[in-house]
Amino acid sequence: YDFGVDSYPFHSRHTQRRLPQCIIIGVRKGGTRALLNFLDLHPDIQTAGREMHFFDEPDRYKLGLNWYRKRMPFSFRNQITIEKTPAYFVEEHVAGKVHEMNSSIKLLLILRDPVERMISDYLQVRTNKEEKGKSYHRFEDLVIDKETGGIRESYTPVRRSKYHVHMARWLKYFSLDQFLLISSERFAEDPVTQLQRVEAFLDIDPQFKRDMFVYNETKGFYCIRDEDEHVCLGESKGRKHPNIDPAVLAKLRAFFRPQNKKFYSLVGVNFGWP
Ligand code: A3P
Repeated sequence: YDFGVDSYPFHSRHTQRRLPQCIIIGVRKGGTRALLNFLDLHPDIQTAGREMHFFDEPDRYKLGLNWYRKRMPFSFRNQITIEKTPAYFVEEHVAGKVHEMNSSIKLLLILRDPVERMISDYLQVRTNKEEKGKSYHRFEDLVIDKETGGIRESYTPVRRSKYHVHMARWLKYFSLDQFLLISSERFAEDPVTQLQRVEAFLDIDPQFKRDMFVYNETKGFYCIRDEDEHVCLGESKGRKHPNIDPAVLAKLRAFFRPQNKKFYSLVGVNFGWP
């Protein structure tokens, strides 16, 4: 694997590679890349460029914490190292392993309407197949059980969107105040307010300012302002979603409504998903 890590700050007497003191654990398609890249602008933050998949992939985990640490960027003593791997939130044994590494770690979790998240998840898989010249199933055929007409709970994107199940597992190891929950929808609309919440949560200097970002009409999202340029995320972020059969959407909404309620009461926040 080619782990790209930032070249600055380089190795010197004053810098070291350190284990992350904060991890973005999910969710997949929640805006984790934008969150990490935007946080990287902060002078007190260093981020690992690639998803590490250290705690969820047994072959990597067995290489040990020193292997993991060596894949982190160099940082000064006062800087916080952050990595993001959205698979962490949903994979079974991750929370316990993270706790074993650092029981007082801070966890960032950016959460999107579970139905939108599923469609985005599906679209990512479909695009990957299509890029290899293969065709792929319709979303409706994957998500609906042909025999019963109900939701196919074994479909991975459905499982990943059942946030209360995953959150309950994480809360066995970590207290709620170790998490900062971010709404994907609010983050996309107004990243600075959410980045300022992260600064307060991490107890670092308030550095994020509105003029660091610019809304790009073509992209439909905020991008980093670099003088006259807009530095936006790549084409795989912010894809146009396919139209889904309204009857299937209604079934999904009905399926997730009680799931979402459970999640809201678990974390004490109402995300207002439809
Ligand atoms: P869509 O492609 O479904 O719109 P992740 O990085 O976790 O895979 O999340 C991808 C999602 O980030 C995109 O999903 C998009 O909605 C969201 N996003 C949030 N802020 C963004 C930004 N500034 N630029 C691009 N995508 C952003």
